[in-house]
Amino acid sequence: MKRKLLTALVSATMVMSLMAGCGSTDTNDAAETAEPAAEAEETTSEEASDDSAASGEKLVVGFAQIGQESGWRDAETASIQEYAAEHSDTVELNFADAQQKQENQIKAIKSFIEQDVDVIGLAPVVETGWDQVFAEAQDAGIPIILLDRTADVDESLYATFIGSDFIEEGKVAADNMATLIGGKGKIVEIEGTVGASAATDRKTGFDEQMAEKYPDIEIVASQTGDFTRAGGKEVMESFLKSNPDIVGVYCHNDDMALGAIEAIKEAGLKPGEDIKTVSVDGVHDIFEAMVNGEANCTVECNPLLGPLFFETAQQLKEGKTVDKWVKSVDGVFTSDVAADVIDSRKY
Ligand code: AHR
Repeated sequence: MKRKLLTALVSATMVMSLMAGCGSTDTNDAAETAEPAAEAEETTSEEASDDSAASGEKLVVGFAQIGQESGWRDAETASIQEYAAEHSDTVELNFADAQQKQENQIKAIKSFIEQDVDVIGLAPVVETGWDQVFAEAQDAGIPIILLDRTADVDESLYATFIGSDFIEEGKVAADNMATLIGGKGKIVEIEGTVGASAATDRKTGFDEQMAEKYPDIEIVASQTGDFTRAGGKEVMESFLKSNPDIVGVYCHNDDMALGAIEAIKEAGLKPGEDIKTVSVDGVHDIFEAMVNGEANCTVECNPLLGPLFFETAQQLKEGKTVDKWVKSVDGVFTSDVAADVIDSRKY
């Protein structure tokens, strides 16, 4: 019982700190308000317990975020937190930052179950290992929304997946890479977090499309950069040493491409010219790189899922049926249009 009271105040504290950050268009600012759950718990007392999930008045949602590995992730976090702050009269958000660890996400879900929240949201850091905790949520009658990444569990264990088609993103990336390098040459691939659906599926889509449609393009190396800028840079540095004749790099997200671009420049080469880049996400920084001629193409993956997430959670609270996959509609942008669209980008 005591734990329930503590976690209720975490939620209230988080919403208040988010309201302070509301209105900022800088996604990094907003992400800074997302304290790790463990730290937030230390700041709690028992006084705000009356605002708990048990009141039943508001839509009470627990969200277990992966962490802050990329600009895209920051934008998604901001979208969720800003929606909660703007709708604080009807919505209560208990936000946990798992700092890239599945065990922290599982702990957060168990805590949300104890709080008896209405709906649990999760961006699963990896695909496997969720069966038991999802079953616990189901036993407690709490629906789970998978946001942006999928989990490898029986469909009956979650209510819906809201997000993009990562396999399709990989295929579109392959087509654009082929166009950029004239259908031939050696390229490298920098993968996302091992075991994450965004990495597995973007690799499957890209590699299969290359094998099927572009026999003169060879993927000479493929390694994880963990979806981070630092990871992308480190992997690209080592790729450049062992593969001096590559003409392109495909990265599973823009942040890793931005790191790779740094490595290419430090190696005395011109990114965007000597080595073409294709990546996924569509964050503002990659548009800047395209405007500067240092990147060539980004396949969009919309992170602004907050409104749809809460609307879907409300429907589930009301007992309505929702589609098993609410698919995001995304575009693709090349450097020749970057200058025209950069000012209209929302993340
Ligand atoms: O799950 C979506 C991916 O996760 C984004 O492409 C990436 O930037 C993030 O870390």
